[in-house]
Amino acid sequence: MNPQKLLDEENIDALLIYNGSAEDLNFFYFTRLLQGGIFEGSYAIVLRDGIKVITSLLEEESARKGKNEVLIYKSGEERDKLLKKIIGEAKRIGLNFSALTVKDFDKIKKILGEREFLDISDKIMDMRKVKDEEERKLIREACKIASEVAIDIPEFLKEGMREYELAARVVYEMLKRGAESEAFTTIAAFGENAAEPHYTAGERKLKHGDFVLVDFGARYHHYNSDMTRTFVFGQATEEQREMYNVVSEAQRIGIEMVKDGVNGKDVDVHVKNYIDSTKFKGRMIHSTGHGLGLAVHDHVGLSSQIDMILRSGMVVTVEPGVYIPNFGGVRIEDDVLVKKDGREVLTFAPKDLIEV
Ligand code: GLY
Ligand code: MN
Repeated sequence: MNPQKLLDEENIDALLIYNGSAEDLNFFYFTRLLQGGIFEGSYAIVLRDGIKVITSLLEEESARKGKNEVLIYKSGEERDKLLKKIIGEAKRIGLNFSALTVKDFDKIKKILGEREFLDISDKIMDMRKVKDEEERKLIREACKIASEVAIDIPEFLKEGMREYELAARVVYEMLKRGAESEAFTTIAAFGENAAEPHYTAGERKLKHGDFVLVDFGARYHHYNSDMTRTFVFGQATEEQREMYNVVSEAQRIGIEMVKDGVNGKDVDVHVKNYIDSTKFKGRMIHSTGHGLGLAVHDHVGLSSQIDMILRSGMVVTVEPGVYIPNFGGVRIEDDVLVKKDGREVLTFAPKDLIEV
């Protein structure tokens, strides 16, 4: 992460991030204020002489733990004055249009008056794709927490339990291991509900013979993991086993292809070609994977729709799936660090079909 380089390359005098009505993850990216603090209504301002944080009394202690200059406001009026003072004579100001509401943008324009405002959201996102040492460490820990829970999931399954009970147990186990929260709403899908990739969890009770699909992740110091395991509660039928084996092989193909310099598009094409060569043709209804970091869907990763050259230091998910409406679905997902000569799979939990 080199914010000063961003100022030079974009020829801007300041980069202004507002963690306002909408949360802007870039606030945390630039300030590295990753432990404690919500920083609602706070500014991060990247200038040539360093990063300044304007925040409220509510967050002062957390703010001072970082390496930035901290300015505290006690009222909205004071906050506006501080912003004007810090921005000073800067003429060209970079903003993150991806997370700034129109209302907040209007407010900033009123406070700062005539300036040139530039959207540099794509440029920031490009920087965020390649994770530095600290980011990798945090993602690794988030992956470890989720993986340990994934290993234990078969023990949690009891006939008659509801999907939301399983989801609650998974979240509880992650928090107990040090996650600050779940990375996203946990998906616990039984039986036919597993056919919907973005189902969450409902009242469906677990029955003998059901698929159990659990897609979940841990957030650790703002960085995320995202993994999926699918089990069969009881003995698998031939059809279930066949589905599982196809997805398992598709995932192996996908993971093997991840490497610095490879186009993510090609990974998706190969994975889907394989699935389309089986009886489950056309039943993989999403892309093979996405970038992972401060956001769960951090950036485009492995999608046949977009060219995306993988670079060493990126973290992507590899998550093929096969979905049959009214029957069920199988997805297997791991988080993978792209390396110069290949890859490292950061999540770990058995991947052979587990019949509970
Ligand atoms: N974990 C949900 C997804 O990747 O879409
Ligand atoms: Mn995912």
